[in-house]
Amino acid sequence: MRMYDIIEKKRDGRELTDAEIGFFVDGYTAGRIPDYQASALLMAIYLQGMTPEETRLLTMHMMNSGDVVDLSDIPGATVDKHSTGGVGDKTSLAVVPMLAAMDPSHTFVAKMTGRGLGHTGGTVDKLESIPGFNTALSQDAFIDCVREHGAAIIGQTGNLVPADKLIYALRDVTATVSSIPLIASSIMSKKLAAGSSCILLDVKVGSGAFMKTVPEAVELAQAMVAIGEGMGRRVKALVTNMDRPLGHAIGNALEVAEVIDALHGRGPADLQHEVILIASDLLELTGRFTHEEAKARAERVIADGSAFNAFKEIVAAQGGDTRVLDDPTLLPGAALSRTLTAPQDGFVAHIDTEAVGIASAELGAGRLTKEDDIDHGAGITLLKNYGDEVIAGEPVAILYANDPEKLAIGTKRLTSAYTYSSERPAAEPLLYATVTRDGIVYA
Ligand code: URA
Repeated sequence: MRMYDIIEKKRDGRELTDAEIGFFVDGYTAGRIPDYQASALLMAIYLQGMTPEETRLLTMHMMNSGDVVDLSDIPGATVDKHSTGGVGDKTSLAVVPMLAAMDPSHTFVAKMTGRGLGHTGGTVDKLESIPGFNTALSQDAFIDCVREHGAAIIGQTGNLVPADKLIYALRDVTATVSSIPLIASSIMSKKLAAGSSCILLDVKVGSGAFMKTVPEAVELAQAMVAIGEGMGRRVKALVTNMDRPLGHAIGNALEVAEVIDALHGRGPADLQHEVILIASDLLELTGRFTHEEAKARAERVIADGSAFNAFKEIVAAQGGDTRVLDDPTLLPGAALSRTLTAPQDGFVAHIDTEAVGIASAELGAGRLTKEDDIDHGAGITLLKNYGDEVIAGEPVAILYANDPEKLAIGTKRLTSAYTYSSERPAAEPLLYATVTRDGIVYA
């Protein structure tokens, strides 16, 4: 088989076979196929697309390019949740302990997660603002923790889907990131390799997300649901609004503190709503409860404190200092702060959510390059979000940093992210659609 023929076939819009896709994935991962040929194929896929079967096969070969986690020793349903990335999206931190508490001894969460890059935050970085929390458990310790405590959260192991690491890096520099089959196979290869049988996908759409329009996000959701179901997993996707940051807190320790509030039932309304939605949909996917029963359990574990206790148990099991959960003022903080005020009376008419994420990274909360260190205490508290009424001079956000230069840069960016108007903007839903193997339901 020759890579040249595979590129030519896809360039001409023909369907690739299992063997051809495997030849590319295995050959590129092993270093036998040069970047220029892999780039040409990626561009041909970008321009010609892939059939659902080609996308499934690409995912399967990528998944099998490295370690595949075996959760068969876990005595119950295994569930996982993935967000395509957003600003202030801390739902995983709340949903993992909620699930552990919602169906103890029967439903288990084995969560592998990533770090933030660019404008989006990462769950690993957020967890590492809890002193001592170890996100680098060995695979055996990870599975033991899931079995004993109902849940564990770790960073992706080095050899999980090596093909994706290489292909993603190439896509990043060849203008081939925003292709639905390539994004779907990238995300799903990692989710499938992480081993869980039920997967809830939160596909973000809007100015702070990869997908800028609802039709694009629905198409991505459909592709990912089809891949997962085609590989024997139960998968549901929610298409949710990322035209506004989620909750009030952006930045690692600030987000952990907001999750603690949410687990006590006193988080911001949008966050509280979204964690209940995700946790109940995920439990329902196990097939053990109706939607109403799952939702009642999600609400109950917050009301009776068992979700918060589960979070404490997971943090303790992974070496974290649980005192910060009882007293979030012990979390890393910032020496400097600045308050942004509204320049006029009126309403917040638009928030450039990607710019808010970049501002937070510039303050020190994220990485502008892969090598950057994180400042866990840096970030933003939004006091006014999309649609809120403001009075001239009223505080709209507080920025936190440990470096005056970073504070100045972040403040400039955040100032330009807000647009005001004298008219109240139209209300926007938090949820646009749900996608399952049975089809699409628009909210
Ligand atoms: N997230 C991923 O993991 N892969 C993509 O291609 C896009 C978002």
